[in-house]
Amino acid sequence: MRLPSTEIAGRKKSSESNDIFEKCRRFTRPGDLQAAGLYMYFEVFGEREGCEAGEARLGKRKVLMFGSNDYLDLITHPKVKEAAAQAIRKYGSGCSGSRLLNGTLDLHIKLESELAAFAHKESAVIFGTGFQANYATLSALTEKGDVMVCDHNLHASLVEGALRSPARTLRFRHNDLDHLERCLENCSPEEKILLVSEGVFSMEGDVADLRGILKLAKPFGARVYVDEAHGIGVLGATGAGAAEHLGVLDEIDIVMGTFSKSLASVGGFIAGDRSVVDYLKHTARPFVFSASLPAASVAAVAAALQIMKKEPERRNHLIRIANLLRQELSDRGFRVLPGETAIVPVVIEEEMDLCRLCKALLEDGIYINPVLRPAAAQNLLRISCTAAHTEKHVDRLITTLLKHTRALGIEA
Ligand SMILES: Cc1ncc(COP(=O)(O)O)c(C=O)c1O
Repeated sequence: MRLPSTEIAGRKKSSESNDIFEKCRRFTRPGDLQAAGLYMYFEVFGEREGCEAGEARLGKRKVLMFGSNDYLDLITHPKVKEAAAQAIRKYGSGCSGSRLLNGTLDLHIKLESELAAFAHKESAVIFGTGFQANYATLSALTEKGDVMVCDHNLHASLVEGALRSPARTLRFRHNDLDHLERCLENCSPEEKILLVSEGVFSMEGDVADLRGILKLAKPFGARVYVDEAHGIGVLGATGAGAAEHLGVLDEIDIVMGTFSKSLASVGGFIAGDRSVVDYLKHTARPFVFSASLPAASVAAVAAALQIMKKEPERRNHLIRIANLLRQELSDRGFRVLPGETAIVPVVIEEEMDLCRLCKALLEDGIYINPVLRPAAAQNLLRISCTAAHTEKHVDRLITTLLKHTRALGIEA
């Protein structure tokens, strides 16, 4: 459609404010934080060669890393690195095509069958990222007339998938089963329901009440989808996540997992009924129209999965360290959110206090991620434990935290 000439003239006059880039120039928050010396993002990490367990290289310094989701400390494991290197030698650096066409390797098929068994499901499919797995699945699986009933604190990838879907979305208060029940009662008998939760919530680190969720879902015929991004490797007898930990893995309809945390690589997967997985493989647009995961990433996941199965002591040590840290922090009056996972979040009310604290910790050689609202319901110092951490690391973290919260006048 062409604009009438009078409108074109009007547009020409206000061309400055009509520029689509205008909002970018007005977006000064990062610059403001940089000017205040409080910008905490895009820190540049270097190679890990020469770093001790639990450390990362930041510029010329080595820092104690309490901000990584490499929960089982497998990213630098010699077997994982060798598996990736060998896969590159054998298969090359990429697949150059969608899984649907020329991008499926024997490595993908083998890993998918291992993941299906791991998640106690008939079938599994690998995606390029965990984000893609959630986004693609929620948007492909639901149609107009369906309802997605979602926990309020879901990760952005699930929220985006729900937004992209033509289905109605209802959000229940975080882990609140009474509210969930009311939302389910709000659905009409004709509506088909997908109930979506995380197993371990990514920011707060708490575990969903999956038993209660399943109990409520069944009478409504709702299917249950659980994102186990932060549960895999951390919870459950075989490390399959929160559902296994709670003894309900077989009852979950769809298990989603990422490779970017305990599985030491990049990518994600969905496991479920064969018909569901086949449907996604042919209809989920971010899967069909995107190149497949390179051999090196797949091989790294396969190696990490083997180590995870053979060495449950990694998981046990991780949980022991995280529990120790939680206890030590609450003994000293810090507002730690309760939990049983690798994520130990401390509430720091004021955004500026949190940024100052993270900067001060970093200057003292400890890296921790600040999580600012609205990424979480409260501003959080999100401490992330891994199997590489020791009691000495915990002591150093506590001492340094106390020093800086006192110096900055931050109430613990
Ligand atoms: C709960 C949850 N789901 C999905 C994702 C996306 O995973 P990925 O980073 O592997 O794309 C994340 C990442 O942080 C997450 O925390």
